[in-house]
Amino acid sequence: MRKNIVAGNWKMNKTFQEAEELIDQIVVGMEEMSLKCEVIACPPALYLEMASDYAEESRIKIGAQNVSEHDKGAYTGEIAAPMLASVDIEYCIIGHSERRKYFHETGEQLAKKADILLDYGIKPIFCCGEVLEEREKGIHFDVVRKQLTEGIFHLNKDEFSNVVVAYEPVWAIGTGKTASPGQAQEMHAFIRNLISEKYSKEIAEETSILYGGSCNPGNAKALFSNPDVDGGLIGGASLKADDFLKIAASFE
Ligand code: 13P
Repeated sequence: MRKNIVAGNWKMNKTFQEAEELIDQIVVGMEEMSLKCEVIACPPALYLEMASDYAEESRIKIGAQNVSEHDKGAYTGEIAAPMLASVDIEYCIIGHSERRKYFHETGEQLAKKADILLDYGIKPIFCCGEVLEEREKGIHFDVVRKQLTEGIFHLNKDEFSNVVVAYEPVWAIGTGKTASPGQAQEMHAFIRNLISEKYSKEIAEETSILYGGSCNPGNAKALFSNPDVDGGLIGGASLKADDFLKIAASFE
């Protein structure tokens, strides 16, 4: 199911009222648009049920930003995949660099998160990407290959067909420094080739690979016009309905 996708990762932003206002503005804006992509909003966990109600009445899809690798039990503060499924959440971001960095998430944990999401019918949006130092050393392809191998390449073909990959070079996240369209295309083609080698050419062609990192209404069109860039995972620019919708309208 290779589709164009624009997903907003709201991170830890917005009060409940602000979140409701933002999702309402996005949904109303989408009504007027003939979209060439799927639009996903990933609000903080506390607002997922409210957002899910909007999804019932509109074309918007809802994703969580994280999930526990366990299905229930004594894990204070965590949210389990069956809980997300019980409020009809369709997607969940895993492996975001902020979670790898600040919460020390490992490849092994991410593999378990991918498994448990798929067990409950939720599609993982798996993030990968190198830090600046790794790019400067020229090891960015190796880093991304390792992240994919550890996190999702244990999945079987059927499972993998429900995965979305997001390439987010860490040096481009929240910095205003976007990867050039050429840098994004180069890495996306590399990722698609890895998927082709691991699974099949058909599965690789069907996988949506999103770009994330300072994507905005001004650069989205150039990024998305690359053959292997199937949309974006948007941070800062997803917090304003106008900007987010302009990005969603950036497919030729
Ligand atoms: P920015 O768009 O704010 O750079 O964030 C990207 C990101 O981390 C999305 O997950």
